[in-house]
Amino acid sequence: MKYSIKAAAVDTINADCIAVVVWNKGSLSEEAQLADKASNKGISKIVRSEDFTGKLGETQIIHNPVGLKSKRLLLLGGGENKKLNSKNAAKMLCAGLKAIFKSNATSAHFALTSIEVKGESTSWLSQRLAQEAECESYKYDETKSKKSKAVSTKLISISGAKTARKKSLETAMKSGAAIGTGINRARHLGNLPGNICTPSYLASEAVALGKKHASLTVKILSEKQMARLKMGSLLSVSAGSAEEAKLIVMEYKGAKADSKPHVLVGKGVTFDTGGISLKAGAAMDEMKFDMCGAASVIGTMATVAQLKLPINIVGLVGAVENMPSSTATKPGDIVTSMAGKTIEVLNTDAEGRLVLCDVLTYAERYKPRSVIDIATLTGAAVATFGSHVSALLSNDDKLAASLIQCGQNSLDRVWQLPLWEEYQPLLDSNFADIANIGGPRAGTITAACFLSRFAEKFKWAHLDIAGSAWNSGAQKGATGRPVALLVEYLSQQKA
Ligand code: BES
Ligand code: MN
Ligand code: ZN
Repeated sequence: MKYSIKAAAVDTINADCIAVVVWNKGSLSEEAQLADKASNKGISKIVRSEDFTGKLGETQIIHNPVGLKSKRLLLLGGGENKKLNSKNAAKMLCAGLKAIFKSNATSAHFALTSIEVKGESTSWLSQRLAQEAECESYKYDETKSKKSKAVSTKLISISGAKTARKKSLETAMKSGAAIGTGINRARHLGNLPGNICTPSYLASEAVALGKKHASLTVKILSEKQMARLKMGSLLSVSAGSAEEAKLIVMEYKGAKADSKPHVLVGKGVTFDTGGISLKAGAAMDEMKFDMCGAASVIGTMATVAQLKLPINIVGLVGAVENMPSSTATKPGDIVTSMAGKTIEVLNTDAEGRLVLCDVLTYAERYKPRSVIDIATLTGAAVATFGSHVSALLSNDDKLAASLIQCGQNSLDRVWQLPLWEEYQPLLDSNFADIANIGGPRAGTITAACFLSRFAEKFKWAHLDIAGSAWNSGAQKGATGRPVALLVEYLSQQKA
């Protein structure tokens, strides 16, 4: 998709489709008024007939509108003008793009000069339009023999806020598109089945990404190398699998070599059977999504490299498959983590934390400014939050507050749960330094408590994306969350 800023008036724009906003009860935006005038009151007539009311997300395409140069006019419902906040504006753009992509329009222009989004900068709409356009045009067909038809639209332009500089709108569109492609990359990795998307596959995808960007260095650690680092906890998860575990290390340099990096850590369990503590059969296929944290790290690294963010960032992924077999770790087994702490594995299905703890210890070598881990860690997070928000737990209140704010800005929201010391004794073990489960209560919190024991040397936040990383049911598929949040957070950091 190509993106551009066009400042011309509605009646002179030569696009296959031009979109104007109509507010609730048919009140016309400035651009819609112009189009109305040019088209001999064509919009007023439709509005008066109440065929189109301007409800948020409503769309109607008018073909060969009189008086306009474009082949199609898209009426885009904006709802109540005063209520157009970022969430509603995104919904409106999304609906508009859906209608355009369903048509055969090869180019589309969004006439949005007069549209103000509550609480957002003048470039917000341009950025979001490009992001939504990328996301709306993604279709999964890699493992279908019949490929889906690509959208006909190849060019999207916008006339942004009058007061905004063209340059800043262009930058906004570029970053929106880069965020969208990062999200799609994460979605795609998530959607691939477990027999394709193995730890080695994730590693080769990361290596390929490193080849694309000179600023990105990627190295892969084998099981042998991890054994030398004494990553006994991570390796205990892959002990039952024929697939070799991989530690993926992606180093992005956007600042001076000695500038301390921000580190992202992704859970990359490419399939989670539960191991010897085998899961029940229902919906077990969805455990191919157990690497969505890893996918979000890879997607985010792709976006930051494309955006050339002026900081250093390290993306780490612990990639493993969790399988039962005669070589698998058993309940009661005790393993020794890279940090030297012994862990009693009371449930082999609580494997994510066993992977992450060694990767967190590995992160220490960077003396990071902040570490954020992203993981589909607990069913309890799904029970608590459903799919709208990811769980956030942190050992640093400032970092937590900043992530909550970035979640609001990017519409990729997180909400904090307490990481109080009162919960820590739930992880006591009679036989090791720590147990890998904390019992049936407060599952998301005790999982984070476990991780916190390995994150004492830096500012750290944990995002449990078990509920937000994918949709179930008819719309089954990975969401690419929280790439948008992570890019927003990293964009705010300085070297
Ligand atoms: N990958 C799962 C968490 C999960 C389950 C995410 C369902 C999304 C939907 C994780 O590895 C797991 O199995 N967690 C267990 C932990 C328990 C054994 C302490 C869980 O949440 O049931
Ligand atoms: Mn599990
Ligand atoms: Zn898991």
